[in-house]
Amino acid sequence: MIFDGLKQEYLDGIVQIEEHSFSHPWSRGAFERELENSVADYTVAVKDGRVVAYGGLWKILDEGHITNIAVHKDERRKGIGDALLRRMLEKGRENGINAFTLEVRISNLGAQELYKKHGFRSVGVRKRYYPDGEDAMIFWLNFD
Ligand SMILES: CC(C)(COP(=O)(O)OP(=O)(O)OC[C@H]1O[C@@H](n2cnc3c(N)ncnc32)[C@H](O)[C@@H]1OP(=O)(O)O)[C@@H](O)C(=O)NCCC(=O)NCCS
Repeated sequence: MIFDGLKQEYLDGIVQIEEHSFSHPWSRGAFERELENSVADYTVAVKDGRVVAYGGLWKILDEGHITNIAVHKDERRKGIGDALLRRMLEKGRENGINAFTLEVRISNLGAQELYKKHGFRSVGVRKRYYPDGEDAMIFWLNFD
């Protein structure tokens, strides 16, 4: 498995994973705009030429906002999410990020475990953050 940045050739694989991973997936157009977004930094995991996972991060000053992270459903629980997040954090730190944040559904305990494993801590809740009304937990990881 290799890690790469966001490229046009990966969009089909990313959109497919996005659609089976989230109830309100980002559109293909949204990912196309990310190709041009100067604050966006994606990490794409590619295995045997196929996209198996991806994570997006927006760098704003010295903070990194993780926008999305997903692993292909047939490839979960094999350590790929773990390796992907580790790579995203390493790359972010190399680029001067001192703190990372993200929102995660209150019901998404698997993802919360992954973030806690990497040192993220919950600092609060955004009420009715998602289009279906579910609350988000706000997680932060600070290196200061
Ligand atoms: C969350 C997600 C990215 C995890 O990816 P993954 O490749 O399956 O995760 P890994 O196999 O690397 O597991 C790493 C750690 O995450 C946690 N974890 C992952 N899935 C879990 C689950 N279903 N239940 C409990 N813990 C889980 C565990 O702490 C695990 O460590 P362990 O193996 O030592 O127990 C993946 O399930 C996914 O794509 N889900 C759908 C999209 C999503 O919810 N994204 C997060 C949005 S905020």
